[in-house]
Amino acid sequence: MIVDPLGRRFKNLRVSLTAACNYACTYCVPDGKKLQALSAELSEQELNYAVRLLVEAGGIDRLRITGGEPLISPKFDALLDSLNELSLLDIAITTNGQFLSKKLPVIKRAGITRLNVSLDTLDHTAFRSIARSGDLATVLEGIEEALALGLQVKVNCVPIRTANLDQLLPILEYCLARNIELRYIELMNMGHLKHNQSYEQDFVGMDEILEKIGAKYDYYKIDAPLDSTSVRFEIPDFGRFGIIANESEPFCRTCTRLRLSSNGQIFGCLSNSKAFSIKQLLNEPYPQAITEMQTVLRSAMQLKQRLAFTGETTVMKFIGG
Ligand code: 5AD
Repeated sequence: MIVDPLGRRFKNLRVSLTAACNYACTYCVPDGKKLQALSAELSEQELNYAVRLLVEAGGIDRLRITGGEPLISPKFDALLDSLNELSLLDIAITTNGQFLSKKLPVIKRAGITRLNVSLDTLDHTAFRSIARSGDLATVLEGIEEALALGLQVKVNCVPIRTANLDQLLPILEYCLARNIELRYIELMNMGHLKHNQSYEQDFVGMDEILEKIGAKYDYYKIDAPLDSTSVRFEIPDFGRFGIIANESEPFCRTCTRLRLSSNGQIFGCLSNSKAFSIKQLLNEPYPQAITEMQTVLRSAMQLKQRLAFTGETTVMKFIGG
């Protein structure tokens, strides 16, 4: 097993199926251009093999499928179908929800029970100005259908001062009414935001989020699993929510995450743009490839930050959050 001096090991693998996305969210891309696939994305076979090797070589037991937007990838169905051969405790998907209705049968068939849907606002106009594409009603329909099928849905909401501050309570209430656990994600200093003053202006921290909620609801903090990235809260009689407080309460010390980008790069840390390509290694037959993968993973482990996320120009779209 690969363990670092802080006792961290890899448990959660996040796989970006494609860098392409059908949205162009303001905090993710600078110029409103839709994201395209990377030039040399892994083939379906390479991707399935990479996941198998990473699971075995890294001791991974939890997998999250991300993007870009994973549901638009032609590799999505095949990856899902290949996962039942692996002994994973948990498989989840992060999606913007635009194609959720269409993909629910495949998701259900693969036995996936957990989904995170990104939803930054319930206002149609604000939705278009943040995502610069897509349709809010379609996302909401997808969520209702997923819930009706018994899937456990979480909603990710990134508070942005100039875009959705008035939506923090409406989204919470939308989620509480449906037994959905909301995760507010503090805006991360990534990609183009790293060199942009709008970051400071738009950042909304945990204290301010809690102040807004506290004006209407009583809440108290509850325990979260040790390697959880979110600080979790309970509103008695209503439900729970969480805050991924990258800035206010960094969680690097207990980070167990490992990321595979769509072009076969391994990232040990979201706050470090250094990556290792595993494309060559995927040509190796099974047992040899495991040994080589372990070498890559030892190097990737050394990339993890010790204390806090310091910001990086890595764009979330490439490594899937
Ligand atoms: N800061 C915080 N969250 C972000 N996401 C994308 N970019 C950022 C950022 N700079 C979120 C998306 C999605 C999740 C995978 O990551 O909104 O919900």
